[in-house]
Amino acid sequence: MSKSQADNITMSEGGLYSLATIGAKDVIDLAADRACDAIQQLDLSQNANRFTMADMGCADGGTSLGLVDRILSELNDTNPDITSSIIYADQPANDFNALVSIVHGRSSFDTWMNRHKNAFPLFSGASFYTQAAPENSLDFVFSATAMHWLSQKPCNLSNHVHMVGATGDEYAQFSEQARNDWETILLHRSRELRAGGKAVFANFCRDENGRYLGNTEGINMFDTFNEIWLEFLSEGAISESEYHSMTLPQYYNTVEQFSAPFDNPESPVYQAGMRLDSIETGIVRCPFARKFEQDGDVKKFADGLIPTVRSWNQSIFAAGLDPQRNQDDRRTLIEDYYGRYHQRVLDAPAGHGMDYVHAYMTISQS
Ligand SMILES: C[S@@+](CC[C@H](N)C(=O)[O-])C[C@H]1O[C@@H](n2cnc3c(N)ncnc32)[C@H](O)[C@@H]1O
Repeated sequence: MSKSQADNITMSEGGLYSLATIGAKDVIDLAADRACDAIQQLDLSQNANRFTMADMGCADGGTSLGLVDRILSELNDTNPDITSSIIYADQPANDFNALVSIVHGRSSFDTWMNRHKNAFPLFSGASFYTQAAPENSLDFVFSATAMHWLSQKPCNLSNHVHMVGATGDEYAQFSEQARNDWETILLHRSRELRAGGKAVFANFCRDENGRYLGNTEGINMFDTFNEIWLEFLSEGAISESEYHSMTLPQYYNTVEQFSAPFDNPESPVYQAGMRLDSIETGIVRCPFARKFEQDGDVKKFADGLIPTVRSWNQSIFAAGLDPQRNQDDRRTLIEDYYGRYHQRVLDAPAGHGMDYVHAYMTISQS
């Protein structure tokens, strides 16, 4: 990924990411049984009582604290002498201050470090598009809600801001980029994992029924993003070129696309000894929409939903604005954009929300 594109993918900072994205934690909690089952299958007897795992694309680390706590507890139950290393990896532009503070207990989050004295966090600025750890050094790799970020944007879209609305050649270019990126991600993990090591990923997907993030029923969240930017365009508030630059560098694979490198004995992934143990899709309801169904508090709904959306797309949209614009102008446009989305939810809340649609998979390295 070029530096400028990579730098634009940043989550909300200062620990706000984990506070705003309760749903992302629910996704990780849903993957926890799968992760612990995979770890139980590891043969750690050769490792001199060492266990090394990585959480790739960890953001501020808050959403996976509970998972790491459970993994360490289960490991200690079977092997009280075990020493563990937890590598927290994210791209260099990530808010590492927040990550270190949260993991080391200098925040309101309850960290596993309070309970596990023989486990040590390590922090890495490595992208998952590179080898992030030495060869044959990891027992387990975890990643949630991160690998949909492409290594680069293959093109800007003419009629939408996301590949879920792309068609024709533009869709084909995104699909080809995603196919290459998935292979790259897997080949690097293949090098890092020890023989017998496992990976568990919870990756955004398009499921068997065509559902994806924010598009399970009711209003399509990505169409809303697009409609609001088109309003700005038709009002002359942004230019054509700014609208096109809003294209998000993301791709949501289908189960078939995730499985393809493992199904083909000729593929470099298969030849590197990686196997897909299992894959299934699952939906985590938007916590804000669920709460709204219970309490009917539309203001609370809009006040919760918009920050969770902003937490992951504001940096991309802001970077799409013309660099010649001054700071005040940029800030006003971005505030107006999310203000308009907020107003839409207030005016007609039914059908809004951001249900999470993931493919949960376990991969083995032979
Ligand atoms: C939505 S957050 C997910 C955070 C956390 N895993 C969770 O599930 O709550 C996506 C994370 O992926 C990171 N990310 C995006 N591209 C990456 C890359 N190429 N390598 C490592 N991390 C990346 C982002 O910086 C961000 O922290």
